[in-house]
Amino acid sequence: MSDFNHRKYVPFQPLKMPQRQWPDRQIEHAPLWCSVDLRDGNQALIDPMNVAQKLQMFKLLVSVGFKQIEVGFPAASQPDFDFVRRLIDEKLIPDDVSVQVLTQARQDLIERSFEALQGAKSAIMHVYNSTSTVQRDQVFGLDREGIKQIAVNGARMVRDCAASQSATDWTFEYSPESFTGTEIDYAVEVCDAVMDVWQPTAEKPCIINLPATVEMATPNVYADQIEWFCTHLTRRDAAIISLHTHNDRGCAVAAAELAVMAGADRVEGTLLGNGERTGNMDIVTMAMNLYSQGIDPELDLSNMDEIIRCVKACTQLPVHPRHPYAGELVFTAFSGSHQDAIRKCLNQREENDPWQVAYLPIDPADLGRSYQEVIRINSQSGKGGIAYVLEQEFGMQIPRWLQIDFSGIVQRHAEITEAEVDPETIGQLFRQHYIERQQPYQLNGYQLSREDKQERLVANVSVNNVETSIKGSGTGVVGAFVDALQKHCGKNLVLVEYNEHALSHSAGADAATYVQLNIDGLRYCGVGTSSDIVSASMQAILSAVNQPLSLDTEVVAGTEQAIA
Ligand code: KIV
Ligand code: ZN
Repeated sequence: MSDFNHRKYVPFQPLKMPQRQWPDRQIEHAPLWCSVDLRDGNQALIDPMNVAQKLQMFKLLVSVGFKQIEVGFPAASQPDFDFVRRLIDEKLIPDDVSVQVLTQARQDLIERSFEALQGAKSAIMHVYNSTSTVQRDQVFGLDREGIKQIAVNGARMVRDCAASQSATDWTFEYSPESFTGTEIDYAVEVCDAVMDVWQPTAEKPCIINLPATVEMATPNVYADQIEWFCTHLTRRDAAIISLHTHNDRGCAVAAAELAVMAGADRVEGTLLGNGERTGNMDIVTMAMNLYSQGIDPELDLSNMDEIIRCVKACTQLPVHPRHPYAGELVFTAFSGSHQDAIRKCLNQREENDPWQVAYLPIDPADLGRSYQEVIRINSQSGKGGIAYVLEQEFGMQIPRWLQIDFSGIVQRHAEITEAEVDPETIGQLFRQHYIERQQPYQLNGYQLSREDKQERLVANVSVNNVETSIKGSGTGVVGAFVDALQKHCGKNLVLVEYNEHALSHSAGADAATYVQLNIDGLRYCGVGTSSDIVSASMQAILSAVNQPLSLDTEVVAGTEQAIA
């Protein structure tokens, strides 16, 4: 049998909770956030952060708005110890920020952790021991009572050390590590015992952190565990219930969200989800999820590019281009129908409207991203995206019939080059095909007169660089020019489509005109831009006419002869 054998595994046994409340609740405000980038995140790095990187990360976390930051495991690491000392000695911790350090529930480690925090204004001492069945049986070889005793002894040591460093405003945190693999009644029993030692109150609560050290089940199971825990803890009012999820099954954010619905107050995680194995809960994603629901996340993530730059520099890890909210491609639509829908929604949007744009869950501008990034063109792109680029980049509002014509040209280009087509190339292709068709006909000037409700036009043109004048009449200028050209080139010309609009001053001309002509049974499009609308229309017609004529050597030669 193959090694790929699912029978090796047993399903996680969920709690029986027919009365569960959390599925009907909604998150209404941000939880208390605690960043563990400098501890859990750092412990998971191939190259742990150096002091300069840690300082850079700490400053970023403060600037984003974290009020609780786990800065290291100083009893286990000299660089962590030195870093904590530096923060305190150089007074780098703002008054409204509490630094947190992690320690195992052992006398020497707890004492060393307190030493690291000497002189801190406000600090969180985070003590943990493993409580799961697997850890009890196979790692520690201790029964439930033995493991509970480790927790209680740790709590006593923390309490006593804190009493001898009373200048610091202490908060105590306890984690029954591998909580999700711990019998739920036993987890409550251990935490109750720890709280009996600490004697927290509603005014001065302790933190009880309930880690999904390894994610073992679906997020709803974690939420059940949190709800059960919250409703059975003896002194719930004196505890801040904290979550610490890992991403083994890819659901760390979902688990934290459902567990907040289930009653938790606080969430530990990292920026962009670095951490052991598949990572810690990604605070950027969870905070932006709240933001996208109209809830203040109480973190300022508006400078996302700076956050990404700093996280990458400190962790040496890349950010996936599809990372929620942060990835390079997450506000980019490649598919034609998506581009079309986005363009329509953006065009209809009034400034203070609630955000309702197809395919964009949030406004990219909120994260310092620009609309230009929204649409990029490749061979899969449709006319809407291309039109959007032309409008945004060149002020051209091309009509639908021209969108259809031009998208074929862009797609052919994308297929040949097998690459994305950037806005500059789109502009070039547009000009080449529709505007810069100067041969054989070129317009030098015109005179208009009106007789019998007819426009009479005399146009001075060059045909293959030889000057001549052509004459025509019609109900409007456009009709008169088409008539003049038709007579001169000997082709059957019918004006099929005509659109025009004023251009913004930045476009370098005042008007743009778009025409489609049927020339001997085939359709050709042309575009003209000029400071006057009549010239723009005539340029557009010439561009269209020049397309078949520049390929038709007989006609060109014949015309030349006729003129000569
Ligand atoms: O994942 C975990 O259980 C931890 C604890 C030490 C909180 O990082
Ligand atoms: Zn962890």
